Amino acid sequence: MTGTFDGAASCPWTGLRGEAFDFPVGQIRRVAAVEPEVDETKRNLLKLAAVAGVLGVGVGGVVGGTLQYVQPPTIGLSSYPTVQLLDVDGTPLTVDKVEAEYSYLTGDLLLFNYPLRNEPNFLLNLYTGSAGSPLPPGVSSILNAIGPPGSPPPLPPTIVAFSAICQHLGCPAPAISYYPPGTCPKTFGSLTFYIHCSCHGSTYDVTNGASNLTGPAVLPLPQVVLEADPTTGIISAKGMTPSSPPVKGHLNTLQGDYGVGSTSELAKESPVILCSFPSS
Ligand code: FES
Repeated sequence: MTGTFDGAASCPWTGLRGEAFDFPVGQIRRVAAVEPEVDETKRNLLKLAAVAGVLGVGVGGVVGGTLQYVQPPTIGLSSYPTVQLLDVDGTPLTVDKVEAEYSYLTGDLLLFNYPLRNEPNFLLNLYTGSAGSPLPPGVSSILNAIGPPGSPPPLPPTIVAFSAICQHLGCPAPAISYYPPGTCPKTFGSLTFYIHCSCHGSTYDVTNGASNLTGPAVLPLPQVVLEADPTTGIISAKGMTPSSPPVKGHLNTLQGDYGVGSTSELAKESPVILCSFPSS
């Protein structure tokens, strides 16, 4: 989808923004859902305390023994898991496949959830498709990228992954999308490709850890740490880079939903294109 920007009030993705405001990434929705149960539990505790008083039983003992059932469980993980990525057809995703099928010219979005089920991420390959000039014009290296195994590797590292939830107000993909070269007239020096959010115009440099090119977002997109098996080239996600902020809408990237499990499968989506750069 394409369009022109004429202000936030007419943004066609107001619905998505509303969804993001109301339920950023699932956590708020869950809190809202459990509140009535907590209130009911509190009421039951008071009743229990009253009965204990009548019976002459120590309220502290009763309450202490009951509290373990009162605390709402924290949904999430205690540490970053290593999760093998699967291609859209369910087969293991390898560096060779990514190099063959995707490049920095690829318009379709490739999304996978990690580390939680409600935390989508872009998978990007910034390879030009030419072994002679593998990096895009003006780019000398790509921060925290992985590439084909080998010594020396046949190609420089070009595969990266970033959170697909905008760091401004939490608009999710595809309202935030990867824009290949030529998508919008706007460029940043020699940089002609970037992640751009159609909600309010935040733009992120995919060659430099998704640092901010334009606001209103002031933090980079969290970057997934990827790893390629040195023998098979199978790609796994194994954490977030140390400089990554929490995924927007989560106090902690590891909390707010259940983990994805041992594998996470790519899904393809069409980008939303809206060339708006109000803060540039
Ligand atoms: S949510 Fe405002 S720029 Fe993305």
